[in-house]
Amino acid sequence: MTETEFDDVFDLMKTGVYVITADDGSKLGGCTVVWVSRCSFEPAMVAVFIAPRRVTHDIIKRARHFCVNIIGERHLETAKEFGLRTSANVDKYAGVSFTKGQSGAPILKDACAFLDCELVQEIEIGDHTCFVGKVLAAEKFSPEKPLVYRHEDYYPREKQAGHEG
Ligand SMILES: Cc1cc2nc3c(=O)[nH]c(=O)nc-3n(C[C@H](O)[C@H](O)[C@H](O)COP(=O)(O)O)c2cc1C
Repeated sequence: MTETEFDDVFDLMKTGVYVITADDGSKLGGCTVVWVSRCSFEPAMVAVFIAPRRVTHDIIKRARHFCVNIIGERHLETAKEFGLRTSANVDKYAGVSFTKGQSGAPILKDACAFLDCELVQEIEIGDHTCFVGKVLAAEKFSPEKPLVYRHEDYYPREKQAGHEG
């Protein structure tokens, strides 16, 4: 987890919690992110910001697609499984139910909705890459409310910073 001098203010910017998934044909990738934004109405596009050291980062680059899985509020554990462990060490998909979207990216059963995307642009920004996806398909599975990010759900209370940047 990276702590910065502006965390007190950035922490006021509330976000949802998403698991970004991809399949490059030989490996499934998936990591929890909070840095996600809609960025175009027409065509519908979404931007996700992922650090190059994440295993999922290079899987998205190779796959040329990704899926934004919007996690339901009952599935905090899923967000932790995908956000506090790396696929470099564990098989995050063991025991996880999913289907494949039009793009080929995994759609998690624990998601309450998803945006399945074709990767159309990648921009290096500081210590993250902005992956811009054109939405190929989107669906809401359940009326469940989406999970909202709360720092204390993931990190010890004494550490007041953003994600494991
Ligand atoms: C709540 C939460 C939010 C996160 N948000 C981001 C994010 O926006 N961008 C990012 O690059 N990493 C983010 N992370 C960190 C990655 O999810 C984490 O490093 C993960 O282990 C990477 O998995 P991978 O190496 O299998 O891709 C977040 C982690 C948590 C717990």
